[in-house]
Order: sequence, then C-alpha cells, then structure tokens
Amino acid sequence: MTLQEAIVARHSVRQYKQQPIEADKVEQLRAAIDEANRTAGLHMQLVTDEPEAFAKGLAKYGKFSGISNYIVLVCRKGLDEQLGYHGERVVLLAQTLGLNSCWVGLTFSRQPDHYTVGADEQLHGVIALGYGLTQGVQHPVRPTEKYYRSAVQPVPEWFLRGMEAAMLAPTAMHMQKFEFELLADGRVAARTRFSLVNSYLKIDLGIVKCHFELGAGQENIRWA
Ligand SMILES: Cc1cc2nc3c(=O)[nH]c(=O)nc-3n(C[C@H](O)[C@H](O)[C@H](O)COP(=O)(O)O)c2cc1C
Repeated sequence: MTLQEAIVARHSVRQYKQQPIEADKVEQLRAAIDEANRTAGLHMQLVTDEPEAFAKGLAKYGKFSGISNYIVLVCRKGLDEQLGYHGERVVLLAQTLGLNSCWVGLTFSRQPDHYTVGADEQLHGVIALGYGLTQGVQHPVRPTEKYYRSAVQPVPEWFLRGMEAAMLAPTAMHMQKFEFELLADGRVAARTRFSLVNSYLKIDLGIVKCHFELGAGQENIRWA
C-alpha cells in the first residue's frame, strides 16, 4: 500500500483487538518518529503495551477500547503545525503497515511515567494505534469547492488532486477549518479558518497539508 492509498483507506478507529504490534513494525514506526523529531524539532514518543491511558473515565466516554499502543504528541510552543504534519505522516505509514489509528485530543488519561514532557513543552494529545476491530468508516466528504480558491484557471489537475486528499484528512471534531488558495504566481497558501471551539486548528492544518502534498505531488507545490 502506498501513502496515497493509505489516505483513502484510513479512517478513525476507536476499538481495537488485543493484538500486539509486531516488533518489526514497532521498529519502523520508531524510526519514522525519530526522523520526524530530528527534522522538525518535535518530541513525539511511541508508547507500547500501556493500557491505562484508555482504561477509564473520559476514554470510555469516547467509546475507546482495547488501546495499549499510542504516540504521545509533544512539542514546544509554536510547532503545532509541524506536529500535525509529521504525526499524520506516521499515521499513514501505520496504515501501510496494516494498522489502524485515531488522533485523540482529550479523551485519554495522562500516564507521565511512560513518556517525558519537557518544562518548555506541551502534550497536545495522542494517536492511538493498533489492529482495529473494524477498518472504520469514511467521514462525510464535503464539497471540495468550498475549501479552495484559485487565481489560476482552469485549476490545475495536481491542485485538485491535492484538495481531494486534503478533504480525506482527519481533523478535530471533523471541523475541517481550513482553506487553500492557488495564487497567481503558482504558489499555494493554506490557512486556518476561524473557530471559537477548536484549539487544534494548527495541528489540523499540518495534517491537511501533509495530505495535500501527497495528493498533489510535492514536486508541484511551492508553499506561500
Ligand atoms: C487533532 C485531532 C484531535 C482529535 N481528538 C479526538 C478525540 O478526542 N476523540 C475522538 O473520538 N476523536 C478525535 N479525533 C478524531 C476526529 O473526530 C476524526 O478525525 C474526524 O471525525 C474525521 O473522521 P476520520 O478520521 O474517520 O476521517 C481527533 C482528530 C484530530 C485531527
């Protein structure tokens, strides 16, 4: 499975089998996480065989079950977009390895003995990983035209492919508070839209930019 195929196959999965992730897959995930941390100055950490974060309270409310593997999303202030971008790269890698996932902002309990959060860092949430009881379901796909503008007509195919991939991205509460613009000089601008209730706007923006790049082809894009 390619990363582009993973974009189509991925859906949030909240219930998991009691099936450990094989050591070679754990190794590939750790390598990808280490590389992303080095490249972008992040502090994501993979926690395995740790069922407590999703064992009680808010996690039950969110209908999560069987989760004992997750990526802790930690970074310094101002790096949220990078966290979204690189976290989603790992999500898509996981999908290519036959694993399911779910970004989780709130409905888990913190287990500080299992990871570290520096004094200048913030824990933004986790990504649950594992073998899902199901493959999840496709979220409602909204009309792409409402999510972009283009100063270039006709709109190039690569841009539309990028938009299609962006529309399949996970966003907090499925709010999709983003918009893309193809500028007259050929550069692409991606912005958040206003929201009072969503504190994950920058993380969401990083996630959708990751999808856009994979859909459009990185070689076609110059970000504004
Ligand atoms: C930053 C972020 C935080 C999220 N937090 C939660 C959460 O706390 N609980 C939950 O059940 N789903 C959470 N989700 C998953 C979204 O609800 C889900 O991505 C969205 O409904 C779209 O569905 P899909 O991922 O199946 O395409 C989160 C997603 C993102 C990107």
